[in-house]
Amino acid sequence: MSSTLRALKPKHAHNELLDRYLDVRGRTEALIAPLSAEDMVVQSMSDASPAKWHIAHTSWFFETFLLAPQLANYSAFDPSFSYLFNSYYEALGPRHPRPERGLMTRPGADHVLAYRKHVDQHMNALLQTPPSAANHKLIELGLAHEEQHQELLLMDILHLFSTSSLKPEYDRRWPKTPGGRKGQFKAHAGGLVEIGQQGEGFAFDNEGPRHTTYLQPFEISDRLVTNGQWLAFMDDGGYSRPELWLAEGWDIVSSQQWQSPFYWQPGQGWSQMSLRGLEPIDLDAPVTHISYYEAAAFACWAEARLPTEAEWEAAAQSGYLQQVDDVAWQWTQSPYSPYPGFRPAPGAVGEYNGKFMINQMVLRGGANFTSPGHTRLSYRNFFHPEKRWVLNGLRLARDCQKVITDDHSSFRRDVLNGLAADHKSIPPKYFYDATGSELFEAICKTPEYYPTRAETRLLSAVAGEIAATFAPGSALVEFGSGASDKTCLLLDAAPHLGAYVPIDICPDALQQAAQRLTERYPALSVIPQTGDFTRTLALPAAISHRPRVGFFPGSTIGNFNHQQAVAFLKSAKTILGNDAQFIVGVDMVKPAAILESAYDDAAGVTASFNKNLLVRINRELGADFDLSNFAHQARWNPIKQRMEMHLLSLIGQTVTIAGQRFTFAEGESLHTENSHKFSVESFTAMVAEAGWTVAQHWISDAPQVGLFRLTQKTG
Ligand code: SAH
Ligand code: AVI
Repeated sequence: MSSTLRALKPKHAHNELLDRYLDVRGRTEALIAPLSAEDMVVQSMSDASPAKWHIAHTSWFFETFLLAPQLANYSAFDPSFSYLFNSYYEALGPRHPRPERGLMTRPGADHVLAYRKHVDQHMNALLQTPPSAANHKLIELGLAHEEQHQELLLMDILHLFSTSSLKPEYDRRWPKTPGGRKGQFKAHAGGLVEIGQQGEGFAFDNEGPRHTTYLQPFEISDRLVTNGQWLAFMDDGGYSRPELWLAEGWDIVSSQQWQSPFYWQPGQGWSQMSLRGLEPIDLDAPVTHISYYEAAAFACWAEARLPTEAEWEAAAQSGYLQQVDDVAWQWTQSPYSPYPGFRPAPGAVGEYNGKFMINQMVLRGGANFTSPGHTRLSYRNFFHPEKRWVLNGLRLARDCQKVITDDHSSFRRDVLNGLAADHKSIPPKYFYDATGSELFEAICKTPEYYPTRAETRLLSAVAGEIAATFAPGSALVEFGSGASDKTCLLLDAAPHLGAYVPIDICPDALQQAAQRLTERYPALSVIPQTGDFTRTLALPAAISHRPRVGFFPGSTIGNFNHQQAVAFLKSAKTILGNDAQFIVGVDMVKPAAILESAYDDAAGVTASFNKNLLVRINRELGADFDLSNFAHQARWNPIKQRMEMHLLSLIGQTVTIAGQRFTFAEGESLHTENSHKFSVESFTAMVAEAGWTVAQHWISDAPQVGLFRLTQKTG
């Protein structure tokens, strides 16, 4: 902050608004510090403005909308400035033509800086008394406006310096976006979502009103597209294949001969102009400075699309997106238009956003050039689709690849019904959102959770024997396939299998596993199905001609109660067909101490898995569970021969879920999972109730787990 501005800081009373005013104004002055007087005058293209114009115009805003109308006896610093530094406000009369801002050698930079000082001094006087609510809003608007110009100033300087033969550095220490992994698609169930300005804080008028909108299920990448991915697009003829491009985009690519992102330069490898000067491209960093047309062509090439702004906001609210607001503004496929019920603010400031709601596309997030704290999840940036000098990038989305049969409304219904019951419970299948599936994987690696290791060992030993029973070309249908790790043991032992159909409720886990298996077994037809196996499932028509083998490892069958397990085994018969066999893995009864520590590991991974259910309910059903008020509990139930997981309420409390209130007494349990343990006899009797017979079984050494090969009873 300059010494003049520091001198304006209040010495006694704390004045938050004045503090913020001085911080924002000080940042603008810090941003121009690396510039020479000549740098500040030039306008390198008609979309850009000279730095001198930015610093004058941001002062003009405060003078015009606050000082002139509100401060008694205020006289304008220079009457010509209302013409020179009005940007586009028709209500305020004529103005200096925008494309000629670079011709303003007068007023000189010193005169403009004196103007800033004059405005700051008078704003200081105005802010000595608490402003009215309306003025408060206007000052916030002026500050947000100045922050927007801070970002524009950087983008304009970058453009100016990119045209210089010297390729100057603006600031060699300007923070660089680190490289990282490629994005992964995350599924969103869609349904009714709320978007738009939330709460009392400042937002631009275009961010409201908050409203409900409906989304089809979709998938969105958790990270931005990288330079490396962009290079693959270029190497695949991305800029010369009209079938990838929107018609308008193709016209521009052809006429302007675009062949790479805006600031890329060929040489020995590609380099890119940045605020640090010209530097080699980092292939793992996000691609930036691309038009909407390029983003859309890339998405088409990648067999994806751009997200809508509502999808972007709903996914961002869910908390699983990375690179949200610190790298590059992200193009959406949404045209910039008013939200339902939008009304521009009255008066000249109402020209701020509304009148631009035509022929522009919305960008979401924020960028590396954006002023700290400036942006919000509801923020709607907008530019014409051909703009490339903006610090923009892209995040891919796509329609949900599979039908999510277990939709959002059944989650809502099951949670609300489960909590309304005398003994509160929630079905364990809801553990498996993306985080839940990752936590389950982590549980399998804890020293206490033996079932995965024991079953893997047993399966490795007997996979050959099991595989010998599969008819050539059979389809292996796996229920609750998760990471499909154990499956590989069977697939390796049975190269004569023709197809693999993994079924899982968690699209993220399924997607990753299916991709891995497709690469590892190129001859196998891998057909993933997202779905709830407790509902009637139809297998893909592509395997209708193949003999089927069911596979249900991991003792997931133990998560059903007796009646549910029998019903599931019966429906598996229907799904798999009369001649099918079924390989089922179960955990055997063993001492309570071993079981209780397996479900309450010392590192607390199982506790996090259990509590993640509350995180999911908070996020997807708008609930307010306070996780610190619940404790994970794992206990052996000797009568029912099962491990139970509970979340115990540590205090008397009320929780609101989807608008409904539920009371928990101190010590009351929310029952989240049963894991039934079996003996050979109890399991054989249970499958018999569903019409299966045990053809073979294998039991491991302690800690004991069992594998059962079931065939269908005849007669
Ligand atoms: N088979 C793997 C994973 C077991 S974890 C193993 O043996 O290690 C249980 C898996 O079943 C998870 O991937 C979970 O997402 C899935 N699952 C649980 N309930 C389900 C349901 N009702 N429908 C489909 N998948 C379900
Ligand atoms: C998937 N299922 C068989 C696991 C089990 O053991 O019941 C889930 C689990 N719950 C706690 N730890 C692991």
